[in-house]
Amino acid sequence: MSGKALNIGDQFPNFEAETNEGKIDFYDWMGDSWAILFSHPADYTPVCTTELARVGSLVPEFLKRGVKPIALSCDTAQSHRGWIEDIKSFGKLGSFDYPIIADDKRELALKFNMLDKDELNADGIPLTCRAVFIIDEKKKLRLSILYPATTGRNFDEILRVIDSLQLTQTKSVATPADWKKGGNCMVLPTVKPEDVPKLFPNGVETVEVPSGKSYLRITPQP
Ligand code: BEZ
Repeated sequence: MSGKALNIGDQFPNFEAETNEGKIDFYDWMGDSWAILFSHPADYTPVCTTELARVGSLVPEFLKRGVKPIALSCDTAQSHRGWIEDIKSFGKLGSFDYPIIADDKRELALKFNMLDKDELNADGIPLTCRAVFIIDEKKKLRLSILYPATTGRNFDEILRVIDSLQLTQTKSVATPADWKKGGNCMVLPTVKPEDVPKLFPNGVETVEVPSGKSYLRITPQP
């Protein structure tokens, strides 16, 4: 039986799990940080190896943003420890600096709806898809993405989303298509025209559009 689908803003449930580094209580492991929990179909698989190596090289970027990475794969902690040597070798990593949850019984994969019914292992059991959960320090789900097993994720995009989430939670802006840190932002539609000068001292450009409506308001990143 699968768990209830989690929506943005939901409390991310706590859990205990075995990892390559030992047993964790997820909330205790997070402490006051954010977390990115990302899942994998299985150990010793090619795309997963590239993903875990990429995150290994990006650990300082995640930590700079106050986000602790944790992976999940449907094999045992012992299997993870062996696989980590391959990941380090492939990614030319001196060390492997984040835990991998051992979900060999698929308990968390079921609880968090991570199973991909179209991708089966040799025994006909559904594999875990590539889920991404970004959870804030209050343990609220801030973002979820699901990729199929056959498509590796773009971790530059995931860092970009974290930058947007962390900016837009304190400033009255939203980030436009293909935004990157430091780029122009859009003033939130809820901001009243009379509040614009105080909130955006660096100026706002309103783009004219055929409707005559003044909703495309661009401002330098606050
Ligand atoms: C992989 O990581 O390469 C992979 C795993 C399961 C299905 C397809 C690809």
